[in-house]
Amino acid sequence: MAPRPSDRPLTFLGIAGSLRRASYNRGLIRAAVELAPTGTRVVAYDLAEIPLYNADVEEVGDPGSVAAFKAAIAAADALLIATPEYNHCVPGVLKNAVDWASRPARRSVLTDKPVAIMGASSGRGGTARAQAHLRDGLTYTDGLVLPLPEVLVAESGARFDADGNLIDPSTRADVRDLLVALAAWTRRLGRPVEAVAS
Ligand SMILES: Cc1cc2nc3c(=O)[nH]c(=O)nc-3n(C[C@H](O)[C@H](O)[C@H](O)COP(=O)(O)O)c2cc1C
Repeated sequence: MAPRPSDRPLTFLGIAGSLRRASYNRGLIRAAVELAPTGTRVVAYDLAEIPLYNADVEEVGDPGSVAAFKAAIAAADALLIATPEYNHCVPGVLKNAVDWASRPARRSVLTDKPVAIMGASSGRGGTARAQAHLRDGLTYTDGLVLPLPEVLVAESGARFDADGNLIDPSTRADVRDLLVALAAWTRRLGRPVEAVAS
């Protein structure tokens, strides 16, 4: 018997808004892959191949990397984003990817998609301002952004090793708590991808 939507394992697509090898935010996504609670899995997706948004290019058809990115979002039950903070805002790498994914407006792969946000910075604000900007933008795309808990990872130099692996136990517990909340949020919204397709 096929599992009911509420029993089916959930897939979260994890994206980090940094291309840096030892990125803290890529480390947050790797930690999420390791810490995914029973009944969920996190699949990391790299944004390195996404070109700069250009409406003229879009008009003749999404580039292959963009089409693949959109398909990955569509196939996932929810999106998990780890954002750095650049100048109190969302880095261009991530904003650009969200802009591609948000098209066509009002019926994009982000429409009604559950989303959770976390972020790590070297500063003391822990990406609070970037997360506020990102939440605002995703709300405009009709994304369903998890309200709480907030995962604001400040002064990250002490929480990650030199390769960007998350080593701080308390932050790892925060990431796990976020995944538990995202699973409940996704099931509560009742839109696992299987249910939408049927
Ligand atoms: C252009 C630029 C702007 C930055 N602005 C901020 C900022 O506003 N707040 C902050 O806490 N850190 C800021 N930082 C430092 C980042 O938090 C730090 O580079 C962090 O490691 C980036 O995330 P990543 O490790 O995932 O690449 C900035 C870094 C860059 C390169």
